Amino acid sequence: MKDDFDFYSEEFQANPGPTFSRMLDACPFHHSEKWGWYSVFRYADVQRIVEDNATYSAKFGPGVDYAPADRPGVLVSADPPLHTIQRRAIVQAFNSRTIRAMEPGLRAFVNELIDGFIDQGRCDLIQDVAVPVPLWIICNFLGVPYTENGERFRRWVEVMAASVFSQNKPEVQLKGRDAAMEIAAFFAPILQKKMEQVAAGEDPGDNLLGMMAKADVDGTKLTLEEMLGFAQFLLVAGSGTTTNLIGNTLALLHDYPSELARLRGEPALINSTIEESLRFM
Ligand code: HEM
Repeated sequence: MKDDFDFYSEEFQANPGPTFSRMLDACPFHHSEKWGWYSVFRYADVQRIVEDNATYSAKFGPGVDYAPADRPGVLVSADPPLHTIQRRAIVQAFNSRTIRAMEPGLRAFVNELIDGFIDQGRCDLIQDVAVPVPLWIICNFLGVPYTENGERFRRWVEVMAASVFSQNKPEVQLKGRDAAMEIAAFFAPILQKKMEQVAAGEDPGDNLLGMMAKADVDGTKLTLEEMLGFAQFLLVAGSGTTTNLIGNTLALLHDYPSELARLRGEPALINSTIEESLRFM
């Protein structure tokens, strides 16, 4: 079938679902002549590829600056055994105890956000809620104060996230690279201090940056460069995605009022609501 799938087209970016369905039938293994890459649509094919590290590499994607040709990749753009080491180094930070401990602070923060617009009787859901909430969580994960850093993080995430989906727009890509450099310049001194604490036998803390600095996987420590790559990656991976999830979930509940009524009647359904929203999009 003719090449009619363009990842960067506005139509696809705005609503990918119909294209996925069409391509599943029309061309489930698609070569883009324009970009020189392949898109794989069938679950079984994707599964086979992600499990076959000997034939396929994660090194070239996704996004900008995660895997420059002369450097090893970071998480999504790293192959085993490097990926296994990186994964083991950060996985300890994502435990349910750490996440549960954030709940009271997060509730207070969301209440504050709501207080900010409740008297107007309306809000811009994305700007007023869906953007700040994940940024607050990431700041807490990383152990840097939100009040001082939220705004600059918001700007970096916007620029970096835009550049991931804009290989066709060099000016956006350049801005993404600048933001990546600013992020590295911001985190480098913090991480360096934590590495010095570890070297001096002190505890650099149990936030993500501290966990990275003290991570030791079978005698292998993370390098400063790797840790900076993680910080860049997590900032973008953890915030834009969740902003979209909050916006998409509420848009779906708006479109399906009977589901909204069920959820209001039984708030414990929120977990399956979120899962279903992720699956549905
Ligand atoms: C709705 C929200 C989210 C969605 C839809 C999402 C989606 C994804 C996807 C599809 C991947 C695999 C990408 C690939 O292999 O090419 C991934 C990887 C990853 N995501 Fe997320 N993500 C979300 C939220 C988060 C959050 C909140 C964090 C952290 C704070 C996070 C951290 C990561 C990490 C560390 C990886 C790399 C895992 C690895 O390579 O082993 N994500 N995410």
